[in-house]
Amino acid sequence: MYRDVSSCNTYNYGDALYWDARYVQEGGSFDWYQRYSALRPFVRKYIPPSSRVLMVGCGNAVMSEDMVKDGYEDIMNIDISSVAIDMMRRKYEYIPQLKYMQMDVRDMSFFPDESFNSVIDKGTLDSLMCGTDAPISAAQMLAEVSRLLKPGGIYMLITYGDPTVRMPHLSRPTYNWKVVLYIIPRPGFQRPTGSSSSTKSFLEPVPTNEKGLLPAGFVLEDPDSHYIYVCKKMDETTELSNTPTYLLKADVL
Ligand SMILES: C[S@@+](CC[C@H](N)C(=O)[O-])C[C@H]1O[C@@H](n2cnc3c(N)ncnc32)[C@H](O)[C@@H]1O
Repeated sequence: MYRDVSSCNTYNYGDALYWDARYVQEGGSFDWYQRYSALRPFVRKYIPPSSRVLMVGCGNAVMSEDMVKDGYEDIMNIDISSVAIDMMRRKYEYIPQLKYMQMDVRDMSFFPDESFNSVIDKGTLDSLMCGTDAPISAAQMLAEVSRLLKPGGIYMLITYGDPTVRMPHLSRPTYNWKVVLYIIPRPGFQRPTGSSSSTKSFLEPVPTNEKGLLPAGFVLEDPDSHYIYVCKKMDETTELSNTPTYLLKADVL
């Protein structure tokens, strides 16, 4: 179900052994999809610097370091690859705002419920979607993310997956997430000269239908765009107390 295999290549991105081998070879740092500078407007809009942040599948990206330089105070980074985690822990031992732990996103039982104000995922759900048992892995991961978020908390998913392949996973009623979608072009994308949509801002949410899908006929400026799903865990009591009383009465009558 909803496994966008067309975007997975022959590598097994869902396999810890693949990632360990890759990080042994690579050594340095690499940010998938986008750097923090491009994501900053979205991160700052939805995640205050005082938040307790969980970075799932951190790899050897510099995103968390850049966030600390930008004022973020508490970022717990996890990854299934012990090679990546050992490397990153050594690299950042002098930055107390950054912590690193080897962990599988499908079982984060080390952390109690509602431990974090926000969870950031850049490419990790995507990796699971390329592994074996992809739909089960995705459901396990997202249930854990939902459990770990405080009410009102934010799960920010940065992915290549468009709404047809990501919304079926994100819109499970049990998570009770309100999802806002942004679409940004890949780094280095140049708008064609004379493009009529040159005034469009990527900082504006994209309109979606009641299923969270793009409207029919929606055209991507960059076919290789990245999608940012901002999922807010709704607090039922807050939402109810914000509901106009006439609506509550109408419901009861
Ligand atoms: C595409 S990379 C993204 C790395 C980093 N977030 C970035 O933006 O550059 C996916 C990362 O997810 C990690 N990963 C894959 N499966 C995982 C799992 N089940 N639990 C935790 N991390 C996992 C991999 O080790 C890898 O570091």
